[in-house]
Amino acid sequence: MSDFEFVVPDFSAVRYPVNVVADMLNVSVPSIKKYEKDMALEVERQTTGVQSRRYSLANIFDIAAHRRENGLIKKLARPVTLTVHVKKGGVAKTTLAVNLAIQLSLAGYKTLLIDNDPQGDATSMLGFDPDLSIAELEEMGQPSSRAVERHFGHLFKFGGAFTGHELNDVIKKPFGENGLHLIPSDESLDDLNVALTNANNSDFRFGLLLEHARLGKLPNCNLADYDFVIFDCPPSSTVASRNALVACDYIVTPVRMDRLSVKGLSRLTQSLSVFEEDYNRAPTPIVVPTMFQKSRLRTQRNLAMLMQHFNTRVTDSRLHHSEDYPKAMDEGYPVSLWKGASPAIRNEFRELATEIIQRIMSDVGEK
Ligand SMILES: Nc1ncnc2c1ncn2[C@@H]1O[C@H](COP(=O)(O)OP(=O)(O)OP(=O)(O)O)[C@@H](O)[C@H]1O
Ligand SMILES: [Mg+2]
Repeated sequence: MSDFEFVVPDFSAVRYPVNVVADMLNVSVPSIKKYEKDMALEVERQTTGVQSRRYSLANIFDIAAHRRENGLIKKLARPVTLTVHVKKGGVAKTTLAVNLAIQLSLAGYKTLLIDNDPQGDATSMLGFDPDLSIAELEEMGQPSSRAVERHFGHLFKFGGAFTGHELNDVIKKPFGENGLHLIPSDESLDDLNVALTNANNSDFRFGLLLEHARLGKLPNCNLADYDFVIFDCPPSSTVASRNALVACDYIVTPVRMDRLSVKGLSRLTQSLSVFEEDYNRAPTPIVVPTMFQKSRLRTQRNLAMLMQHFNTRVTDSRLHHSEDYPKAMDEGYPVSLWKGASPAIRNEFRELATEIIQRIMSDVGEK
């Protein structure tokens, strides 16, 4: 299908009113106005009627960064890697990975999202096109910056196409410097699986790259600044997803409240214990109930079963089932940034991110 048939958002053109911005950043309207003054931030004004302020996404993420720089957020004692994974398709993994990355950056944390799925869904959700070349985009009158030319594999030196590209040639910044950063993917990410299979220590390559890049030891790729790295994985078990599991501190698993999804999770408990035997460590699970329908008896029964298996690892925050998700996607927006979303749905992700930050902070400590 041609991309022509999809709505393509221009993230640089969207504007938000101050009350929505306050909601997104979880601060009061007077605080927003104060930060704006302190930062001498230039905010557009509506030209007709009441000249209210209209904030761009770059404005919003700049305010988040200002809060960080001024010590208004708690800093983590060390950087943390999260891998969103479960061996089940269509259970909102990518929705969770993308919106969590957005929320962490709104909370002031420097966040890198790595699309580790050759389907490139996280990449598409953030406005890029894994299927079209620069020439095709230009022909369609679309900016060439929407094209995906490199993926995570290109940061490695395995020979062939993998020559250790510069991070700057790989990374995308859909909401400006202070928004989340993305390492995109396209179907050629499959080649990374082949390269990993043939490499020494094939399950440990992501972990080693992150470790060295965070210490500033790689000339092409410095990741020292990021508080959070998040991998979005495919539903299948590839060498690349195994790598992301070995590299991470936390495995974030969305669970739909139906019998098969909940049952599928008992496999996760098993694979985590096998993982522990194989690698001498296992990531801590964070289980997120999603597509939740509060009133259904079935939902309650499945939730009880989930709590039995994972107990304190299940988040108190739940993501409810809502038509806002497909509607936001139709307009090309992640739900957290879609103006048409009901505030309750948009804020659920903020509450989830707050809870996840608190859980991680109590494990790794504050700087
Ligand atoms: N809370 C929700 N309520 C309703 N629909 C949702 C919700 N969360 C996600 N969806 C929808 O579910 C579909 C699948 O979501 P998503 O692509 O995130 O799943 P996935 O697990 O990453 O899939 P895959 O296994 O293909 O990688 C999408 O159409 C998304 O909009
Ligand atoms: Mg996905």
